[in-house]
Amino acid sequence: MDIIEIENVTKKFKDNIALDNVSLRIRKGEVLGLLGPNGAGKTTLIRILIGLIKPTSGTAFVTYNGNKYDVKKDIMEIRKKASLLPQEAEVYENLTAKENILYYGRIFGTPNGEAKRRTEELIDMIGLRGRENDLTKEFSGGMKRKVLVARALVMDPDLIFLDEPTTGIDILGARTVRNLIKKLSKEMHKTIILTTHDLSEVSELCDRVGILVKGKLVALGTPDELEEKFQKAGFEDVFIGLATGEGVLEGDISTPKVKTNLISRILKKR
Ligand SMILES: Nc1ncnc2c1ncn2[C@@H]1O[C@H](COP(=O)(O)OP(=O)(O)OP(=O)(O)O)[C@@H](O)[C@H]1O
Ligand SMILES: [Mg+2]
Repeated sequence: MDIIEIENVTKKFKDNIALDNVSLRIRKGEVLGLLGPNGAGKTTLIRILIGLIKPTSGTAFVTYNGNKYDVKKDIMEIRKKASLLPQEAEVYENLTAKENILYYGRIFGTPNGEAKRRTEELIDMIGLRGRENDLTKEFSGGMKRKVLVARALVMDPDLIFLDEPTTGIDILGARTVRNLIKKLSKEMHKTIILTTHDLSEVSELCDRVGILVKGKLVALGTPDELEEKFQKAGFEDVFIGLATGEGVLEGDISTPKVKTNLISRILKKR
């Protein structure tokens, strides 16, 4: 079942086309990775899906329990079960880690008792136990990022957008966050859309990956499927090929016909 249906979404900032006719369906319970070079449109797509900005044209719907909500009109309904870790989020520096997480839950309507219980749980899960009562202005960048990850999860969302969740976090911390994402997905059946520049993170976490280049969705599938489709030996080569324009095909690349076209093109070049 699809939880998100994106149809022909275009977003222009004046003359700059940040998203160019993007269509994509996201399945309930999957971890979908959005990959792409800087400025490809990843954050813009996420911001549209959670109602921070509106598409210039096209539509996107989120479905909860059989009810379909329009990102242009029904954003309050969508936000009841959706949460975002923004790429550029900041903690409230004059609050402790615990207060940051707890108050965020309260702002988004989580009942007090539940918010407290989840805050304690998240402090353990994210590895901040022992520092939870310290002011976050005393925290390192990565520690602040961990607080922000926990903050995004305190309301117990079904749909979670994580815009570069592990950027700036050290190797151990990144592992903690990745394990948390796995747990949310595999044990708690959450739908997770994440962006990252870390290709190993994609293969470790993502059921499918969508690659955006200059606002266009140029590929969608599992890393293995994309390797096969683009005749590359590894997923990194697929990404580099697409990001640099080599191997990007005109038209609908998700059809099997394209693969045949690609092979015939390669053969012609020989
Ligand atoms: N608020 C804005 N006003 C004007 N232009 C914007 C705005 N937000 C994004 N853009 C433009 O839209 C394009 C896509 O930006 P976006 O932030 O979605 O990229 P991204 O894929 O998330 O990149 P990164 O990997 O660097 O985070 C860029 O050209 C950017 O300059
Ligand atoms: Mg971004």
